[in-house]
Amino acid sequence: MLTALSPSVGVETMRSLIFGGTSGLGLSLAKASLEKGIEPVIVGRRVRPGAPMDARTEFADVCNEVAVATLMNKLTVQPSLGFGYLFYTPGMFLKGDVREQSDQQVRGMMDINFFGLVNVLRHFHRMKKKPYHLVAISSTAAWRDVATEAAYGASKAAMDRYVRNFHHQLVADLPGSRTLIVHPGGMKSRFWDGRGFDTTRFMDTDLIASLIWDEIHAQALGTHDALHEVHYIRQPDGTPRTVHGPNLPELPRS
Ligand SMILES: NC(=O)c1ccc[n+]([C@@H]2O[C@H](COP(=O)([O-])OP(=O)(O)OC[C@H]3O[C@@H](n4cnc5c(N)ncnc54)[C@H](OP(=O)(O)O)[C@@H]3O)[C@@H](O)[C@H]2O)c1
Repeated sequence: MLTALSPSVGVETMRSLIFGGTSGLGLSLAKASLEKGIEPVIVGRRVRPGAPMDARTEFADVCNEVAVATLMNKLTVQPSLGFGYLFYTPGMFLKGDVREQSDQQVRGMMDINFFGLVNVLRHFHRMKKKPYHLVAISSTAAWRDVATEAAYGASKAAMDRYVRNFHHQLVADLPGSRTLIVHPGGMKSRFWDGRGFDTTRFMDTDLIASLIWDEIHAQALGTHDALHEVHYIRQPDGTPRTVHGPNLPELPRS
């Protein structure tokens, strides 16, 4: 309930800024935010079907520094838009034989999964004067040993390290802030379109979003530390198994 996310816990509670909120997990997080009375502003590159009609949508490519800076300036000149929550969900998948991946493909993925986050954090953090709750959507791929996901896993591991290190500055600059790093396994979303995967036993984004908001709630209550990590491991039946804390990288099995 909203009482646990009251202003007494430090962060501004009335609005959330959700990058990647036009689809998949970001969209589910935005819907859950609306249900909690925390008004979401969602950001994507284009209009997507299914976005909540009553959520304000902004358009910016996280890889474009000028676009992100312009968006932040626009939001800053509206002082009523105090964001207590920043979600970074954009991500791109890349799988396969490294010999068949182009430089452009790998850099394009790194741009969204890593440099986009760096870009968004730089400009959002400059704008903020009050504490906030940062939620970064990583992946179990950050620590899984997967032969065909060298670049994707590396992009998520880099993101994790960046966010963990950034957390020190966040709490030093704006005491009372919190960071949640989320590592989901396979979820049903547009992420998999055209890739030929059977996603029928993949996890439901609405369920994962609801679990993420529970963790945010637990951090606000002090049940978890100001920096917390959570993993939603996909079970064979498509349900998540929740594991808390950072994970060591798996060692190669052969
Ligand atoms: N789905 C899975 O099985 C799975 C598993 C583990 C981890 N993850 C991670 O979970 C996150 C969310 O995945 P999802 O399944 O929800 O994916 P999704 O349905 O493809 O949604 C991605 C969202 O990010 C936005 N986005 C992508 N590139 C962007 C850019 N350059 N600038 C601004 N917005 C951008 C998309 O909107 P536009 O395209 O309109 O810009 C969309 O709103 C990703 O980081 C992914 O790596 C997913």
